[in-house]
Amino acid sequence: MTRILMVCLGNICRSPLAEGILKSKLPQDKFIVDSAGTSNYHIGDMPDIRSIEVAKKYGLDITSQKGRQFSVKDFDVFDYIYVMDESNYHNVINLARHNNDKAKVKMILNEVYSNQNHSVPDPYYGGKQGFDNVFKMLDEACDIIASKIS
Ligand code: 4NP
Repeated sequence: MTRILMVCLGNICRSPLAEGILKSKLPQDKFIVDSAGTSNYHIGDMPDIRSIEVAKKYGLDITSQKGRQFSVKDFDVFDYIYVMDESNYHNVINLARHNNDKAKVKMILNEVYSNQNHSVPDPYYGGKQGFDNVFKMLDEACDIIASKIS
């Protein structure tokens, strides 16, 4: 099994989409894809309705996901940890115990634009268009991740 974790701030907008998208591109018997937030704001919550709706528009059902907070134990469980933005990156790296933990953490858009450290913009305070934009960015990144690891 290869295990991949998607991380954002709230675990209700971006990382649930990233989880749903990557899951849809990988065989379930070989890969586990999960998501978490660096904050404790939305523990136990369903994804944001705007993420649910944009996922549905592109044929994905993310309604069974539940918000949870990233914890240091995730470094032991997951092989790859993809973060959405620089703030998530610093929050996760600050919990790393050693270089092996740190090496697992990557900015997801670096899969598309190598070494440029672009962020997936937080769509929480914006409108529907922001969620569509985020979906497309994540879909492109997840295509590359899936083809690299499968
Ligand atoms: P996410 O978006 O990190 O993509 O899940 C956010 C969701 C909630 C909040 C911030 C960002 N919040 O402040 O509650």
